[in-house]
Amino acid sequence: MTGTVNIAVVGLNFGASFVPSYKHHPQVGEVTICDFNQHLVSQVGERWDITKRAHSLQEVLDDPDIDAVHLLTNITGHADQAVAVLEAGKHCAVAVPMALTMEDVARIVAAQEKSRKVYMLAETVIFTRNFLFVQQLLKTGQMGNIQFMRGAHYQDMDGWPSYWKGMPPMYYATHALAPAFAATGSRAKRVVCFGSGKMREQLHEPYGNPHPMQTALFQMEDGTLAEVTRTLFHNPRGYTEAFTIGGDNITFETGQLDADRPVMWSYKDDGVFDPDMKLTTYTTMGREVTEERIDPPDQLHLIPEPIHKYTRSHTLTSLRDPEDVFEYTTIGGFHPHLVHEFINAAAGQRTPEFDIYRAADLTAACLAAHDSAMADGSDTVIREFLPIS
Ligand SMILES: NC(=O)c1ccc[n+]([C@@H]2O[C@H](COP(=O)([O-])OP(=O)(O)OC[C@H]3O[C@@H](n4cnc5c(N)ncnc54)[C@H](O)[C@@H]3O)[C@@H](O)[C@H]2O)c1
Repeated sequence: MTGTVNIAVVGLNFGASFVPSYKHHPQVGEVTICDFNQHLVSQVGERWDITKRAHSLQEVLDDPDIDAVHLLTNITGHADQAVAVLEAGKHCAVAVPMALTMEDVARIVAAQEKSRKVYMLAETVIFTRNFLFVQQLLKTGQMGNIQFMRGAHYQDMDGWPSYWKGMPPMYYATHALAPAFAATGSRAKRVVCFGSGKMREQLHEPYGNPHPMQTALFQMEDGTLAEVTRTLFHNPRGYTEAFTIGGDNITFETGQLDADRPVMWSYKDDGVFDPDMKLTTYTTMGREVTEERIDPPDQLHLIPEPIHKYTRSHTLTSLRDPEDVFEYTTIGGFHPHLVHEFINAAAGQRTPEFDIYRAADLTAACLAAHDSAMADGSDTVIREFLPIS
């Protein structure tokens, strides 16, 4: 398919923020919005003037005019729902995580191989302006070879919907690990992981997880290393998705707080190292490095003009009701880039970064990390998902 794509957005809490990018994407035909919650459906429908409305995923699956479905539903439903979407012959994007067990990952891979429809894991971090900037530095060779990577995702999930209760931190480590996959194009082949802290007894079930926090070292197939920390409970720290990518010439590091500007360090000698360099005083020891706080630009050339404005938070007025003034919010500017990748993929114009096999490899790495932590840091080989020929 290369024409327009009719899309359904299912799950309208986090999902509501993707609706304007779909609504105004030039390759999208009709948008259907769907949620069990009728109030959410009405509110989103009125704001964005969307008349195709559904109240269950099944209604969406039964509609032959819908080509593609973006699932933004409860984590525990992702695996069954993705399989159902693919079996219904529709393209499928799913909010992270892909699944919570290896059996479910394998089931989704089998469903995609049978249907041949697009499966995309809708990992947001790789579409942020921070990561898109790093990708530019890598593509142009300015960063040099990657030497080291670190990712962290700090969050405190007390008070969130019940399915979060006791969740093993590494089950939702994709925001911290995906930059390493996307920057290197490689996958994690081995992991050692340890739990940290003491989780209160009530949170040990239903996953049997005693760790409020976990830290893992992932060895990538290309020889690089990614250090990843994830916290979910007992963690008085503001929400932060952070990553460091260190190259031969440039190191890029996101801020300590989500609102902080990232830092970029680079060699003053532009990467040309003089092995006979005279080191005379303490202050000149080592190669000179410049340090700057930067504002990565929006990479607007990557997306169609009508959705440029959804890379930034701003105040909007409902398309139907001029009295309804509301805030459109995006952290990091990822929404229109992610929407563009899925619509392009559904239209047969590209393979998503986290297609079925890359999504399975990323998820397998996260699940293996938790297994390692439960086995007191045992060195664990990560299952690889290879395309069928
Ligand atoms: N940056 C990110 O990538 C990011 C950020 C936030 C949330 N998420 C992910 O997005 C997903 C949604 O998060 P949330 O916080 O909005 O979850 P939520 O539980 O608050 O909302 C899920 C919504 O889906 C609806 N729903 C579930 N199953 C449905 C079905 N079969 N048919 C119709 N509606 C259905 C529910 O009624 C609910 O309104 C989660 O998987 C979460 O992990 C990702």
